[in-house]
Amino acid sequence: MFVHEVRITAGFDEFRDRARDYILRGLAPDQVRFLAGESEQEMDLLASLRNETAFDGPAKQGKLTVPPAYLKLAKTIAHHASPRRWDLLYRILWRLQKESRQLLELAIDDDVREATLMQKAIHREIHKVHAFVRFEKVPNQEGEDESYFAWIETEHPVIELAAPFFARRFGDRRWSILTPHGSAFWDGENLTFGEGVATPPPRAESLDDLWKAYYRSSFNPARIKMKAMRAEMPLKYWKALPETEIINELIRTAPDRLSQMAERQNRRAEPPETKDLEHLKFAARSCQACPLFDSATQTVFGEGPATSRLMIIGEQPGDHEDQVGRPFVGPAGEVFDRAMKKAGIARSSAYITNSVKHFKWKPGPPGKLRLHQKPSGSEMHACRPWLEREIEAIRPDVIVCMGQTAATVLFGRAVRLADEVGKIHTHLPWAPRILVTYHPSAILRAMTEESKQTMLNSLETTLALARECVESEVLTEP
Ligand code: URA
Repeated sequence: MFVHEVRITAGFDEFRDRARDYILRGLAPDQVRFLAGESEQEMDLLASLRNETAFDGPAKQGKLTVPPAYLKLAKTIAHHASPRRWDLLYRILWRLQKESRQLLELAIDDDVREATLMQKAIHREIHKVHAFVRFEKVPNQEGEDESYFAWIETEHPVIELAAPFFARRFGDRRWSILTPHGSAFWDGENLTFGEGVATPPPRAESLDDLWKAYYRSSFNPARIKMKAMRAEMPLKYWKALPETEIINELIRTAPDRLSQMAERQNRRAEPPETKDLEHLKFAARSCQACPLFDSATQTVFGEGPATSRLMIIGEQPGDHEDQVGRPFVGPAGEVFDRAMKKAGIARSSAYITNSVKHFKWKPGPPGKLRLHQKPSGSEMHACRPWLEREIEAIRPDVIVCMGQTAATVLFGRAVRLADEVGKIHTHLPWAPRILVTYHPSAILRAMTEESKQTMLNSLETTLALARECVESEVLTEP
């Protein structure tokens, strides 16, 4: 039999051009052999076919139409590692022309079934790449912008399909994703692709340590299901994940962790019986009433004079605060400081604190290594005794709750911020007057200029009202 063989080295576009030509020339699937570009077995096969001549004339002109579903399928399967993929696609293309345009709807057809399985395998592989890529910082050369890389072992050459997700998500940093089948490079504007890298480059420890710290603190032994984990995350992906190095250690210590967790579920901090703020601050340094102590750098206690008439409560320390050890010293702190100034309040005259005293975070994308997470109800519950003790020590005339967490903790119930903002609450035990406003971080995150302005106005006017309340003797009703 006379077989035309062609080696596809440039992917789907090359296959499409060749296949169109062969179909228009009337070459049946058993007269054509497509070879994939990469495998040695195929090189041998090519050698065994050396008596056959490759078809090599000007491409046949003419129109060939295919159902859109075929194009979609073919563009996906083009990224499957099987050397059979091009022959399969050609056979389906031929049958679409000669047998039925509805062929792809025939799920029990052997060719359709095989193609569908390949398509599913590719979708699964893309999902795994999205889930398991972990970027590391490339050690910087003098004057170079920072950049990141990740290596992940893939079974199929899917990097071109998987990479656009990372360009959308981490578009503000330069990065490379390396796989054995090909690599993707993002320079901040353009996505390009190149050769694969067979083995992982040596790992930088710092980012790994961050992930490990996070996993240690967030690992829930009650939820561990090794079988499900293996099914979801095949072993080949495990070795690229820093956290898997500590999974054995975590499993070994699971019984202890489980009982500690159960114990902590309902735990509350137990501050010493004192109204001395320095003493309380010192005692809070070793608080382990909730799991957050494990991943935070330090306890961030409130600050300000014990004689303050005004107390301002936020949610929890952010990344900066966690490192510096003081409340509201990061980006949210800048918004807060400006609003205080506008309201005519000297920051040093107020007592400023948070509802939860440890930073809760999870690892983030490159350049934003620790992402803020909202504290849970049990974490607020566990931490509240510290806030209660601060309030007892200060006995403020006015408290301003910035954001929902602070309002929830003081009201003792879920609060809809919009319902409470702007009111003066006089029925709560903590202080004669309690005001609620938006949190400075919410202002930073506002989606529209309009909502940003609304929240900022509320923050500034609430703080100004708090100052007036502190200065006035009269209990002002809303
Ligand atoms: N957000 C808070 O709620 N508190 C801080 O201290 C910083 C950011």
